[in-house]
Amino acid sequence: KKVVLAYSGGLDTSVIAKWLMETYQCEVVTFTADLGQGEELEPARAKAKAMGIKEIYIEDLREEFVRDFVNPMFRANALYEGEYLLGTSIARPLIAKRLVEIANETGADAISHGATGKGNDQVRFELGAYALKPGIRVIAPWREWDLNSRDKLLAYCDQHGIQVEKKRGTKSPYSMDANLLHISYEGDLLEDPAAEPEEDMWLWSVSPENAPDTPTYIELTYEKGDIVAVDGEKMSPATVLAHLNKVAGANGIGRADIVENRYVGMKSRGCYETPGGTVMLKGHRAIESVTLDRELAHLKDELMPRYASLVYNGYWFSPERQALQALIDYSQQYVNGKVRLKLYKGSVAVVGRESADSLFDANIATFEDDAGAYNQADAGGFIKLNALRLRIAANKGRKI
Ligand code: ARG
Ligand code: SIN
Repeated sequence: KKVVLAYSGGLDTSVIAKWLMETYQCEVVTFTADLGQGEELEPARAKAKAMGIKEIYIEDLREEFVRDFVNPMFRANALYEGEYLLGTSIARPLIAKRLVEIANETGADAISHGATGKGNDQVRFELGAYALKPGIRVIAPWREWDLNSRDKLLAYCDQHGIQVEKKRGTKSPYSMDANLLHISYEGDLLEDPAAEPEEDMWLWSVSPENAPDTPTYIELTYEKGDIVAVDGEKMSPATVLAHLNKVAGANGIGRADIVENRYVGMKSRGCYETPGGTVMLKGHRAIESVTLDRELAHLKDELMPRYASLVYNGYWFSPERQALQALIDYSQQYVNGKVRLKLYKGSVAVVGRESADSLFDANIATFEDDAGAYNQADAGGFIKLNALRLRIAANKGRKI
């Protein structure tokens, strides 16, 4: 009877709204979120109204997105397959959560989204929704209809009086997704993994070649693993990320061109710009380097790929993610202090770190006289005992 649709205001989801009403004779509630994608949301309201939609939700979720999703993920230093900062992956559970909440508020029995049947996003939306509302119905039009080309979608718009912007020439040909953490590009020319992307595809960063010839220095202040100030100025979570995107993007930082393994089994080529996130990962590792115990740091590093896969595959709302998060959050209690970074032509270099909770002991680490802080003679026995099994095996004539 009633469906809550994740609605961007774009062509695909506009067709979906109409298609749902026609195919299922249902009421449609649209939900449009500002996650920092940098697009006006009011046009989405006008378009929804024009299609006769009565319940229209438009929400600014930027702070919640960074505070409750991006920041917890960065405490883990999450990186999927060594390269992908999970910009799209981490936004999906928040959208799933709001879809379900809005379904509860409006008495809807189903949700719908515009993700295709070939991708990760459908999995993330739906796993999230089922975890939060097990009885929810999901309608994924891309898995049902036969409007599988742009021309068919446009024809559908013509037949059903859906307005589409005509200034198509200026529109990028890529499948894109943007939020405060990143912008992604897939499809079109990128479908050939051998082909270098065109320079004008990138929207958020200058090329490293065109970045300024003088470096930009920034100082990040951390509290319990999260950035709370930049250059000494206190900022909200979303403000920090927006600010870092600007500064890092202007220095050519954060581009990635990768072939990744989708959860559904195929490899896919994607390009990403994650300027602020690239700086955040570097900075977080730097503050952890002085404040975390070695074994705790290594344990986190072992768990990280697992955590990243959970996020990538859509298991944000799962007991295993919660359990890992509890461990990660516990590890952050002393991750406080400041990191200084130098941004220059596509690179981020750590140039300083300081913390009242630092475990770095200059007295012990020094190459100069340590006044008895560390007894070098102890190292002899330490090495001998560690070598014991190696020597026994070698004495037996074992080959290495
Ligand atoms: N491949 C990336 C991921 O799975 C980006 C997906 C982009 N989504 C989109 N609807 N354009 O996280
Ligand atoms: C889609 O298929 O809707 C976008 C790509 C993805 O979900 O991985």
